[in-house]
Amino acid sequence: MPKVRFVPLSKVVEIKNGETLFKAARVNGVPLGSSCRGDCVCGWCKVEIVEGMNNLSEPTECEVKLMSKGNYTENERVACSARVYGDVSITTGYW
Ligand code: FES
Repeated sequence: MPKVRFVPLSKVVEIKNGETLFKAARVNGVPLGSSCRGDCVCGWCKVEIVEGMNNLSEPTECEVKLMSKGNYTENERVACSARVYGDVSITTGYW
């Protein structure tokens, strides 16, 4: 099972293979911005991938659309769209 590390919260959780970063955070009590509740609409769930970008799914069509509008860097993903297939470390500007 993949592990998600939330930096700098010192929290590491194991999740089901293919689970989204959004669910990994929400289910484990880690606050993550959202106004669309994970429907890939608002873009507020943006996270920075510290390690493990290669262990995430390719961006979906809606994620590509949000990333093109939302001032994303190459290290950032839409958490409700990005699915986890290996260990990753993520952070936000508000943790
Ligand atoms: S929670 Fe709205 S885009 Fe991810």
